[in-house]
Amino acid sequence: MSLKDIINPAGGIYYHLNAAKYRSKLWKPFIQSIKTFLDQWAPKSPNLVILGGSGGYCLNSDFLNQFKEVVLIDPDPLAGWVFQFRFKKKIKTIKRNYLKNNKLQIQELVDDFPNHAFLFSNFLGQLPYLIKIDENKVIDLKESLQQSLSTFEWASFHDLLSFHFSKSHPKLCWPLILQSKNNSEAIHYLRQQNQLRPTDIQVVDHCTEGLFPENSNKQKLYWKRTPYSYHIIEVVFR
Ligand SMILES: C[S@@+](CC[C@H](N)C(=O)[O-])C[C@H]1O[C@@H](n2cnc3c(N)ncnc32)[C@H](O)[C@@H]1O
Repeated sequence: MSLKDIINPAGGIYYHLNAAKYRSKLWKPFIQSIKTFLDQWAPKSPNLVILGGSGGYCLNSDFLNQFKEVVLIDPDPLAGWVFQFRFKKKIKTIKRNYLKNNKLQIQELVDDFPNHAFLFSNFLGQLPYLIKIDENKVIDLKESLQQSLSTFEWASFHDLLSFHFSKSHPKLCWPLILQSKNNSEAIHYLRQQNQLRPTDIQVVDHCTEGLFPENSNKQKLYWKRTPYSYHIIEVVFR
């Protein structure tokens, strides 16, 4: 177990601490929306692979119990332990890293698990923290997701944008921001509303816009992750 895995930039110990602090109240509406999304997905496969599951803080027992085998892929050494403790369910934990050569090795992943459905659990939006990402990488990822996953059941929920405010509980009209047709329009509405009650905002683009085709089953949600940080999440499934 290395310190790098425990303090990893895409989750790790800070994520567990955040979950302990905010999951039962602040995260509740988001977790309910994720439940609805997973119910709509309803994969037929008897087995599930979860990429970046951490302690499964946004998942629920009804969803997980429908699978004969659940495989959790996450380098965080606490993830598997917390996950099993929370769900009282035996799972397979895999430390194998499918992020290699600055790339997500999707074909390798599906070759290793030919009888599974795949859930990218708040993982794809963490890629800018884990690999060097640019426009070409996004196109490459988009193509490999579409090619390698074309015959599999899969779902993903991932950050599109996150907004980090200098003061807590900023008053904004989130439906307006969510209804925007793309990231730049969302940022425009955010900045427009912020003019009324100015506060410093750091905007993070998680490089996932356009990863999935327009005709996929996708929706946008918003997640108040801390009193200062809000995420626009895309949910999508096949
Ligand atoms: C934002 S957290 C997701 C949390 C969880 N899915 C949830 O919703 O509560 C991202 C997770 O990705 C994991 N991660 C980082 N690098 C990874 C890799 N190469 N393969 C799989 N998971 C990875 C982190 O350890 C972290 O648990």
